[in-house]
Amino acid sequence: MFEDRIRRADLRARITTAADAAQLVRNGMRVGASGFTRAGDVKAVPLEIARRARDESEPLRITLMTGASLGNDTDGILTQSGALERRLPFQVDATLRRAINRGEVMFVDQHLSETVELLRDNRLGKLDIAIIEAVAITESGGIVPTTSVGNSATFATLAEKVIVEINLAQPLALEGLHDIWSPKPRPARGPLPIIHARDRIGATCIDIAPDKIAAIVVTDQPDSSSNVLPADQDTALIAGHLVEFFQHEVSRGRMPKRLPPLQAGIGTIANAVLSGFAASPFDALTLYSEVLQDSAFDLFDAGKLEFASGASMTLSAKRHEQVLRDIDRYRERLVLRPQELSNHPEVIRRLGLIAINTALEADIYGNVNSTHVGGTHMMNGIGGSGDFARNAAYAVFATKSVAKDGRISSIVPMVSHCDHNEHDVDVIVTERGLANLTGLAPRERASAIIERCAHPSYRDVLRDYFREASALGGHTPHRLDQAFALHALYAKTGSMLG
Ligand code: COA
Repeated sequence: MFEDRIRRADLRARITTAADAAQLVRNGMRVGASGFTRAGDVKAVPLEIARRARDESEPLRITLMTGASLGNDTDGILTQSGALERRLPFQVDATLRRAINRGEVMFVDQHLSETVELLRDNRLGKLDIAIIEAVAITESGGIVPTTSVGNSATFATLAEKVIVEINLAQPLALEGLHDIWSPKPRPARGPLPIIHARDRIGATCIDIAPDKIAAIVVTDQPDSSSNVLPADQDTALIAGHLVEFFQHEVSRGRMPKRLPPLQAGIGTIANAVLSGFAASPFDALTLYSEVLQDSAFDLFDAGKLEFASGASMTLSAKRHEQVLRDIDRYRERLVLRPQELSNHPEVIRRLGLIAINTALEADIYGNVNSTHVGGTHMMNGIGGSGDFARNAAYAVFATKSVAKDGRISSIVPMVSHCDHNEHDVDVIVTERGLANLTGLAPRERASAIIERCAHPSYRDVLRDYFREASALGGHTPHRLDQAFALHALYAKTGSMLG
């Protein structure tokens, strides 16, 4: 049984049910699970952990670490069962989000490249169990990941025991796409030898001592599909402004004609903006990104993309089926790596990346809030946006100029929470226009952002704020008694327009 999927014969004896495998998890344990933006997540054992937490009289509360978000409502089901004590480093689930914002689940919002470094340094405690989705286990016991690598390699290496979910719905043809490599211990660590986005530096599977594999569970369930919305008029305008800006930079000799590698963040806006490059004059693009969304494959099919490096493939239902069916068409131009490589500061700086991520709000000086609605309520988490923004050659933040049908301005006097500070942000772009902040002092930035990016219905209030603040003086002028007046007005009336 499953000779092609579990090639090391003695390990076949470890096939068991998800319910039995879940018995390995005990109250208070730290569990590291595969899964990155709904791709390659474990699909059976977490549900059994939730069932035990719900049905058994003994308490079962765990710390759950993943690559990023999970699909299949797993985070929601675990939250409802009460199994989640602590969760890191990222999530996108509505039920979990509410529990986080009620203070019931302790959520640690981390730069995605850093979780495994903290684990290696024993700063997050010992990892008890890793649960990893795989297409196969090799003759030597190596674990071949599926549609994401995320943190799986380090979780499997550091955990005391490993549970493998072999997912028959993930085709064997995925084998060979991965590039698994771990850095040496610090402080004598050498350079990370990725010089070009297409470089492969590691193995195609996660090599661990086979004895650590305590249980194997066989599943047959596809990834949850991506839930991003299609491009719209505003995202097309944002893409247009960016393409025009990059053309300008090329014409001034600041960027090569063949653009530097691109990174695009998660969500509807980043996906739509990247798709917009299909209609651009740029060819032979490369992606050195984290999540490869539909847009990456749109660009491949448009003949615009030469190579894509990522940590996961998160696709719509239609794209998912097509990409897995035609994987051989993309194989030579695609690599999936651990997120500490896809998001590694050293490589991002070396490649001179163009990083395009999304803001919830930006302020008139270029500080960006990507995580906290109204300054207090967690949306998803910083994800990899900080890894990329701080180290990219061009750190771009895109947002629509207004949210909630115009009742919220995405450009505000002062961000209500700061994820990316003005020192890291080079470009703000909305459907209204683009502000290139490079080399501008704060007062110059304010004028550029208000005049080019803010929605016309909020420009006057922002101009007034800036004028009154400037009269008080300062390098970065503010009226601290009024800095959150728009947020306060929204909280009171449901609209920043009052
Ligand atoms: N205040 C309150 N809500 C806001 C808002 C603001 N200033 N700006 C946007 N929103 C709401 C939208 O109305 C929308 O709400 P809905 O889901 O109820 O419709 C929601 O936020 C998502 O916004 P949308 O405009 O659809 O953008 P998106 O899907 O592209 O997501 C982020 C935007 C910021 C939430 C998302 O990109 C994110 O989580 N980023 C942080 C992590 C990251 O960048 N990772 C990538 C690294 S590789």
